Amino acid sequence: MPAIVVIGSQWGDEGKGRVIDLLARKARVIARYSAGNNAGHTILNDKGEFQLNLVPAGIFHANKTCLIGNGVAIDPAVLLNEISQLEKRGISTQKLFVSERCQVIMPWHRILDGLEEKSRGSAAIGTTGKGVGPCFADKVARRGIRIADLLDTEHLQKRMTAVLEYENNLIEKVFGEEPINFEETYTQYCEYGKQLQPFIGDTQGIVADALQAGDYVLLEGAQGALLDLDHGTYEFVTSSVPSSTAGGATIGIGIGPTAVERVIGVFKSYCTRVGNGPFPTELMDDLANQLRDHGKESGRGEYGTTTGRPRRIGWLDTVAGKYSVRFNTLSAAALTRLDVLDNLASIKICTGYKLDGEILETVPASASALQRVEPIYEELPGWQQPTSEIRDFEQLPQEAQQYVLRVENLLGVPVDLISVGPEREQAIIVNPVF
Ligand code: GDP
Ligand code: IMO
Ligand code: MG
Repeated sequence: MPAIVVIGSQWGDEGKGRVIDLLARKARVIARYSAGNNAGHTILNDKGEFQLNLVPAGIFHANKTCLIGNGVAIDPAVLLNEISQLEKRGISTQKLFVSERCQVIMPWHRILDGLEEKSRGSAAIGTTGKGVGPCFADKVARRGIRIADLLDTEHLQKRMTAVLEYENNLIEKVFGEEPINFEETYTQYCEYGKQLQPFIGDTQGIVADALQAGDYVLLEGAQGALLDLDHGTYEFVTSSVPSSTAGGATIGIGIGPTAVERVIGVFKSYCTRVGNGPFPTELMDDLANQLRDHGKESGRGEYGTTTGRPRRIGWLDTVAGKYSVRFNTLSAAALTRLDVLDNLASIKICTGYKLDGEILETVPASASALQRVEPIYEELPGWQQPTSEIRDFEQLPQEAQQYVLRVENLLGVPVDLISVGPEREQAIIVNPVF
């Protein structure tokens, strides 16, 4: 019963979409299991360059089934637009299915996301503003609207009346803003329900059948483990329930943990973070700009896929990395964007934290403590040669091999895949990932 989970192991944008696009050829089903359109996955392959927010990155493989599992929050306008853009570019969405159990992002979620952020002032989280946090908060508060509700318009009317009364109270009485009009929203969401109807499927059943037949199911994570509500850098995290961790994958698609054979953690060869929150190895100098703008001329610098915000940049943090390996019980790592380090004369890796004169073994729970830690670095020589055309580990410059082996050693899991460019084939498969 082989389900393989691919997660982001840092703060998101590690290259999960790119890794899934490569690995998808071995799977029968590829499924997203968490988050919403706060995620942005960029994929470059023989079909072109694509940005996906909700559709799984397996969609470019014609004969594969792609699923949006119950754990995903769906903004219908975003999903319908993504589907139509893909179709316009000749990518079939015939085998894309959405769970009726998905939560729906409603207009009040987007409004409240903005209002809550504004009210936090300088303590703002730096959310993507897509309404994802308020949508998951409502899910847990049992105030959510699900895709199933959009398909039953009579029920939706009752449900939305009750929910909107609460949300409008919040918008008007707490934030002093204009209430949302029921009729307009109701009509709009009934229409979304109609448009989504052809994509509704028993996602849980499709996964169960594939596993029963012994076929691979690839579970595509969104965001990063360090943005998880429990294990991440709380409160500077995302609100996905289930979380973006390996554990969340089972809940977000509807399988038990015994179905998972392997968990692959995607790591960038350095670190990035969008939004606010502690980032011990953050670089504040010209080097950050240099790494951020690598590939900028072709629109491929470190700028958010979803919001266009510049990503914060730092050295690889193996204290946080090891922590992530541990709470996700990773089987292996995929190391991306190695080529971005090609020009550097030397490269630092964070191997420890110091806090108030003491060495910390792992990531402290408190964000304010993490904010204050001093990273301890090890410095390795750079290779100063291009790596993008290399496809065998042994062909990498000695210094690049040494870097990868040191990362592997510090993380304590094998690096099975190295990516040296954004295109599908720009990868070194060290061990067949599955
Ligand atoms: P995701 O959210 O984890 O899927 O990652 P994003 O797509 O948001 O960000 C990763 C970025 O790095 C994308 O622009 C990818 O095209 C790009 N990328 C992925 N792997 C590599 C690589 O090995 N080298 C380079 N230069 N770019 C890569
Ligand atoms: P992918 O799948 C990077 C971050 C936001 C913010 C925090 C909370 O592309 O890796 P939210 O809108 O979720 O309430 O914002 O989480 N964040 C991401 N950062 N990549 C993502 O997804 C992210 N999804 C959420 O920037 O700091
Ligand atoms: Mg991304």
